[in-house]
Order: sequence, then C-alpha cells, then structure tokens
Amino acid sequence: MNATSSQRDPAKMEKIVSLCKRRGFIFQSSEIYGGLNGAWDYGPLGVELKRNIKDYWWRCMTQLRDDVVGMDGAILMNRAVWKASGHETTFSDPMVDCKTCKRRFRADQLDSIECGQRPSKTPSTCGGELTEPRAFNLMFKTYVGPIEDDSSLTYLRPETAQAIFAQFKTVLEVSRKKLPFGIAQIGKAFRNEINPRNFTFRSREFEQMELEFFVQPDKGFEWLEYWKEERLRWYEAIGIPRARIRVLTVPDESRAFYSKGTYDLEYEFPFGIQELEGIAYRTDYDLKRHQECSGKPLEYFDEETRTKYIPHVVEPSAGVDRTVLAILCEAYAEEEVKDEGGKSEMRTVLRFHPRVAPVKCGVFPLLKNKPELVVKAHEVRDLLRPLMTVFYDDAGAIGRRYRRQDEAGTPFGVTIDFETLGEKGAEWKDTVTLRDRDSMKQERVPIPTLPERLLSRIR
Ligand code: GAP
Repeated sequence: MNATSSQRDPAKMEKIVSLCKRRGFIFQSSEIYGGLNGAWDYGPLGVELKRNIKDYWWRCMTQLRDDVVGMDGAILMNRAVWKASGHETTFSDPMVDCKTCKRRFRADQLDSIECGQRPSKTPSTCGGELTEPRAFNLMFKTYVGPIEDDSSLTYLRPETAQAIFAQFKTVLEVSRKKLPFGIAQIGKAFRNEINPRNFTFRSREFEQMELEFFVQPDKGFEWLEYWKEERLRWYEAIGIPRARIRVLTVPDESRAFYSKGTYDLEYEFPFGIQELEGIAYRTDYDLKRHQECSGKPLEYFDEETRTKYIPHVVEPSAGVDRTVLAILCEAYAEEEVKDEGGKSEMRTVLRFHPRVAPVKCGVFPLLKNKPELVVKAHEVRDLLRPLMTVFYDDAGAIGRRYRRQDEAGTPFGVTIDFETLGEKGAEWKDTVTLRDRDSMKQERVPIPTLPERLLSRIR
C-alpha cells in the first residue's frame, strides 16, 4: 500500500457511522443536548469491542512477557510534570482564524478542511481572510482545589506516557526488573484538538495503550525495529492484515524533537491513510528532563557493565479508539446472499476476528412458543455464558435473527431445533446447528463439544 493507492470512500464511512449508532457501538456524547464535539460514548457492543482490544493488548504486553509490567497512573498530575516534559511550552498546533466566518482552523491542514460557510471550498480558497498562524496549546486546563489561580492550575493529561516516566524508578525497584524492560499502561488522554473530525479518529477525549520500553543507550534502534515487527504482528492477530498497514518512516523534519527515529503505522481508513500508532525512539529525553526538574536521580545501575546511566526509551503508542475504528472499517462488508426461500438479498456483516468480536455466539431457539426448545436453548446459553459473551435471541424469523447478529459481527450462531429434542431421530438428540457468520455454512454438532469448539476459534 502506498499513499497514492488510497481510495477515499465517504459513502462507506457514512454507512459505518450509521451502523455504529443503530447497533449500539458508538454514539455522540451528550446527544440529547446537541452533543459535544470530539467526545463519544461507546454503547453495549462498542464497549465490548473496545474492552476486547484493550484486554488483548494488555495480555500480549504483560501477561505473555517477562520483561514488561503494568501500571495505572492518575489522569491529574503535578503541573511540574508538564513543564518538565515540554508539553506546557511546546504541545501546540498552529492555528489560524477566519476573519469572515470567525472559525478557527489548523494551519497545517487547511487543504483538507471544509470552509464553515462554503463546504465545497477550503478555508484558504473560500475568499475569507485568514489571520497569521499562532500556536494553540492542546492541553485542557483545570484547577485542583477551590481556588482557581495559577498556583492550582494543572492539565488533563494529553498522553499516558508521562506517568510512566515519573514513576520509572519506583516501578523498577518494586518489580526488581533489569534492562531491557518496559512499563505498559492503558488510559484516557485529552487534547483540545482544533478540528476534531472523521468520527472518533481525532477526538478530544480518547484512550491510549502505551508501552515505555527502557533499554541500554546503544540499543535504541535495535529495539525500535523489534517493536515495529511486534506491533504489526499484533494488528494481524486482531484482524488487520499486515498488507493493510503502511509503515511510514517519519522524516527528520516531521519527527518530535525528542525522537531519533519514529515509525508511524498507518491504516487506509475510508477518509484516507492515517496514523494508527506511533513507535518512537524517544532517547533519554524524558527521564533526563524529569531528573533535572525534580532533582531526583533517575539513573539505572547496570550490574553487567558496572556503569550508571539514564536508560533510553522506545515507545509504541497506540490509540484505542483508532484501533476500534480501523477494526470496524476492516470488518465492514455488504454482500448479496440468498434468504431462506432462495431469494437474493443484501446483508451487512461485520467480519470481526472472533478474538475481538463483542458477542461471540448467538443462541436461538427455533421457535419461542415451544417450551422444550426454549428450555434447551437456555441450557446451551448457560453452558456457554461463563466462557464467552453470548446473545440470546428468540424474536422473529430465524433468518432475521442471523442477519441481526451478522450486523453485530457475532462469529457463531447456535440454533436449537426439533432435531435437538430428538424428535427427528435419536442420533440427532442433543445436537445443534452451528452457523459460521462468514461462510454462512451450518454444521450439526453435539452440545457438549460446543465450548471447546468455539473457544479454540476465539483464542
Ligand atoms: N506518547 C506519545 C504520543 O502520545 P501521539 O502520536 O501523539 O504520541 C499516540 O499519540 C497515539 O494516540 C496516536 O497514534 C493515536 O492512535 C492516538 N491519538 C492521538 N491523538 C488522538 C486524538 N485526538 N484522537 C484519537 N486518538 C488519538
């Protein structure tokens, strides 16, 4: 994939946004009051999808490794952290104001933003006069305690990383790790983006999954390559193939000032190729700054080389919401299929990898007014429920129920019918129909084999 192969597809994006709302993945925050730009709520299906992504990241980063531990830092931190990290002075985007429509735009994105009054034009071509660019700090201010003045000012964190740097020494000591080792964290971050847009892609409140991996000073580039490969493998394991991700080597002039090398992993969203995750070699910049500003030693004593130094850091930093969005875009499909009676119809399906699918299995009694079927279906539901998310549905024709679960991205459907009750021959008793969402093929399987059969595909 390269930049020029990007196919923009606004119609697909509109359908995904509408499906997200209709099926309960993602809603506009405070919608009944007209919403709040750049803030989103995840509904019943969205929260499960998001949780599965975070859980799998956590599992791969901590549980399956010896060299990474986790932490969960506070969103509010001492303002001194943001002074030391450089965010207070440099975490800004250039913005311009239009003197005609009075709107504010990011100066470096004028070519891709619609004019507020003439949406077919961009702010620079609509005729409105723009001010000179000015730096706009992206951190949300807040005050700690009852007095709102400079002494109580702090910020909602714009990245989770700084809590890790500030606690580096403590975590190192309590976990008794040796370099190379990492600290992983998942949590909310806030940025007062000038132009939040593209659904959840650029939000003002979002979640990050960040790993700060501490290494010997001469090993930074080696570990940068290692983490790039690991992260590509991770996306593949949640249903975003390697071929769908572009690895951009961020050029010198676009890299953050603290970085000696950065890869951006980019995905081809329907609105263009955009960053999913940044993997940055942050050198010793952050720990050095926190050591200087706090006066507390943050050096590491290397027992092998008998030397003391400030570790260097490689940071894979992924957006949870962007991963959710990429997975939704990757999974979305419309296709022509035959209904029960052989008539053609269109189905919308979300082909989620079973590992991240919000609901793993639909359980359907063929008829809801046949008590024996309902009792058996409840038994199957209760057998599976401790092991995975199950959705029990007895409303409407079975074909409709399958379609509803296709749209929710449920990979498996189990139907309890008259064969299950043994009414069509003893050999069928206690078997069910297992339907595969993607192939729509159905097979007859004994109920006791269901848990292992499904779990092996989910894992
Ligand atoms: N600690 C490094 C850091 O924060 P970043 O590139 O600014 O780096 C990392 O952010 C990731 O966080 C991005 O790749 C993206 O996935 C996510 N992210 C950043 N800003 C975002 C926003 N406004 N809305 C949604 N996700 C965002």
